[in-house]
Order: sequence, then C-alpha cells, then structure tokens
Amino acid sequence: MKKRKVSIFMKLFFTYLISSFAAFILFSFIFYLLFNNNLKQSFLNSMETQQEQVVQILELAYQEENKEAIISTLSIINDQEHRSIFIYDKNGQLLYRFSTLQEPIHIEEEMIYKALQGASVKEFIKDKANPLFIMASPIEANEFDFDEKVVVIALHNYFGVVNGIKGLFLLAGAITIVVTTTFLYTLSKKITAPLREMNHVAMEYAKGDFTNKVKIKSNDEIGQLGKTFNYMANELSSLDLMRKEFVANVSHDMRSPLTSINGFVGALLDGTIPKNQQKRYLYLMKDETERLIKLVNDLLDIARIEAGQVSIQPINYNLSEQIRKLIAKMEPELIKQNIDIEFQGNLDEDIEVFADQNRMDQVFGNLLQNAVNFSPEKGLVTIIINELDHNVMVFIKDQGPGIKKEELKYIWDRFFKVDKARSKKVGTGIGLSIVKHIIDLHQAKIDVKSEVGVGTTFRVTLPRFSLKKNEI
Ligand SMILES: Nc1ncnc2c1ncn2[C@@H]1O[C@H](COP(=O)(O)OP(=O)(O)OP(=O)(O)O)[C@@H](O)[C@H]1O
Ligand SMILES: [Mg+2]
Repeated sequence: MKKRKVSIFMKLFFTYLISSFAAFILFSFIFYLLFNNNLKQSFLNSMETQQEQVVQILELAYQEENKEAIISTLSIINDQEHRSIFIYDKNGQLLYRFSTLQEPIHIEEEMIYKALQGASVKEFIKDKANPLFIMASPIEANEFDFDEKVVVIALHNYFGVVNGIKGLFLLAGAITIVVTTTFLYTLSKKITAPLREMNHVAMEYAKGDFTNKVKIKSNDEIGQLGKTFNYMANELSSLDLMRKEFVANVSHDMRSPLTSINGFVGALLDGTIPKNQQKRYLYLMKDETERLIKLVNDLLDIARIEAGQVSIQPINYNLSEQIRKLIAKMEPELIKQNIDIEFQGNLDEDIEVFADQNRMDQVFGNLLQNAVNFSPEKGLVTIIINELDHNVMVFIKDQGPGIKKEELKYIWDRFFKVDKARSKKVGTGIGLSIVKHIIDLHQAKIDVKSEVGVGTTFRVTLPRFSLKKNEI
C-alpha cells in the first residue's frame, strides 16, 4: 500500500495546533470549573446582602409607620432584578410576593419552618431551564416586633450570567484560535522553509549542479544543518571535479603511449620502417607498454590504498642494502642521462629499520626516480642516511629545478604535476601520492624542502630496528 506523504510542515503545524488546542481546552475546562464555583458562591453571598436590605426596608417602614412603603419600595427595587422576594408571617403565611417571573416558584414549607425556628437555609435547585438559588432566613426582632418573620430570596439569573460570560469566552476563544492558527502557520512555514530549500538544492546536486548553496539565516540546529549541507556540497563538488579530472588524466596518459604503439605497429606493418630500424622501434614500443603497465599498476595501487585494502607488514630489514639495490637497478638510466649518485655515509654499514620492505621499495624507488627525472644533465643526486636514537632519516637530494613554495603543498595530491606541459613525458603525477599513503600507513614521516633553481630534498623518517617485534 502506498504511504501517504505528509510534509514536515504539516506535521509541525498540526502538532503545534493540536498542542495549542489541547492547552486551550484544558484551560477552558479548569476555568469553567473554578468560575462556576466562584459564581455560585457569589450568588449565595449576594443573597445575604439582599436579605439585610429587605430588613432595612422593613425597619424604615416601621419607623415611618407606613406599611404601604414596604410594598412600594420592594416592588420598585425588585423590578430591575432577576429575583423574587417572599415575606412570611409567624404562621408561615405568605404576606408579600415580589417576582419578575411569570411562573410561580415552589418554596418548600420545610424551609419556611426552619427559618421560623431561627435557621438560615440556603438551597441551589438544579433546574435545566432555570436553576434557582433560594435562601430563607428569619427576620430578627429588634426594637420593632415585625409581623414579617421570614424573608425568602430567590435568584434566577444564574444562566443569564453564565451565558453572558460564555459569549465573551467564545469570542475570546475565536479570536485566539484565528490569531494562534495564523501565527502557527507562519511559524511552521518559517521553520520548515530552510528544509524545503535544502530539499530543492539537494535535488539540483543530484542532477550534478553544485552552484546553488543553502542560505544560512540562523545559528540553530537547522542553520548548522545548512552549513553541513553546504560543506557536503563543496566536498561533493570537488569529488565530482576530481572524478572528471581523474578520467581526463587517465585517458590522456593512456592515449599517448597507445597512439605511439599504434603508429609504430602501423609503420612496421606497411614497411615504412626499414628493417635495420625495426628493433629500435620495437624497443620504443616496449618502453611505451611499460609506461602503460606502470600507469595501470599505479592506478590499481592507489585505488586499493584509498579503499583501505592495503595493509603493511613491517619487519626489521637492512635499509642500506635496499638503497644499494635500488641504485644498482637504476644504473643504466643514470648512465644514459649522465647523472651521478653520491652516497654520504657508509653504504657497507648495515642500518636496520622497522618497515614494510616491499612498500618502502616503492617509496624510495619513486623518490629516486623523481630525483633522476628532474635532474639536469650531469646532475648530482645525493643520498644521506642519518641514524638517530629511535629513528633513521633518509635524505634524497637533487639539483633539479626545485618546486615553488606555493606548489609544494600540492605535490602529494594525485595527478598533480608542477608543469603539466613540460613534465608530460615524465609521469602521471601519482608517484608521490602513493608515497605519502604508504608513509601514512607506517605512521612515519615524509617532508620536503625545495628551492627553485637549486634543487629539492625529500626526507623520510622511519623507526629504527624494533626489538619488540623480534621478541615476538
Ligand atoms: N625531485 C623533484 N624535483 C622537482 N619537482 C618534483 C620532484 N619530485 C616531484 N616533483 C614535482 O611533483 C610532481 C608530482 O610528482 P609525482 O612523483 O607524484 O609524479 P610524476 O613523477 O610526475 O609521475 P609518476 O611518479 O606518477 O610517474 C611532479 O610532476 C613534479 O612536478
Ligand atoms: Mg614520480
């Protein structure tokens, strides 16, 4: 079944809305309970005051000896109010009745009886249409001995007051709901806007367009996410660029030897190359194939190293012998290019290091090859081995063109070549990248010093012969 897509905006908006409504309903409920109690209490209290008022009117009438005044005053003051007043004599007979209600109010005889006994009785009669607050209380005899013995007050405007407040409450609620909903809608939109923007930008990244960036407007988690997002885009963009460069570099470096080989084979086949020259061309083709093999091997190597598939197996081995063998291997090339190699120190003395011998072959081979490749005619390459307490330092120094300071930091990047046009013949620019990876795997150190026009010196620092390893 297809899941319905609910946007984060909707989720946020409805969560806010439901929480606000729940809070509002809870507030209304508690408010209603408290208000109701309070209102009932104030109705009950007001009946006492009203009873006192009636007694005062009676007193006044007695003072003036004008009983008519009781009726006229009470009917005037009662007309405005939602209440009824009943006055009884000592036998419980109704003397006066003042009421704004059409229908009669039933007052229990027991209440009158209790009031005649001297008790004040209050009652709340729950009636769906018209709930009543009734109070029957005795009229205390003072200087006048009233005929009127009991006054009953009935208040019947409870619903009127409740409804009035209810109306106000509903109006306030409606205004609150409209304002809150608008506010929450705007807030949710504002909070989710960067997410929508990120989504939009991510879609463009997916299509390979890395030009758009997320605009960071806040420093909160979403702002941080935006920053991370932009950082990711930069990384992706440079990765994409690297991938394109990689393909371009590899294709270019493969094309030149392949084109040469293809040309030579064609020339050999159609007889353009005379028989006595054929061997020379076959050697040239061999050189080109070797270049291709080196390139492919280097590519495979770097791919495996970068994928973390290469581990090193360090052992204690003879470094002096390793350097001796490497120099011997390069002898033909050195003679061909008229380059001299000088070794400062005693090559016959055995100096042991703790490293992966095959991988270090690759490191020193690459460094020596670079020194030779970049050396001028009759140049001198110097190798120095320095033994320290815990380390051995190997210096490989040449009299080549040197590397500019601003370019030095890039030489470890794959495919980096200082002068792409001039050194095209020499290599692909992977050598030093492999060297750096191998040194890092050893947790060893490599650094370089170079001066333009003077030469370059690479220094490799390896741990010395390890007793620990031998004990194992
Ligand atoms: N001894 C050096 N003297 C001057 N420049 C150097 C020296 N060693 C390296 N470089 C510069 O650093 C770049 C990278 O060297 P790296 O060994 O990685 O590649 P490469 O020698 O060009 O090709 P590869 O080693 O893959 O066959 C070189 O192209 C060169 O510009
Ligand atoms: Mg190289």
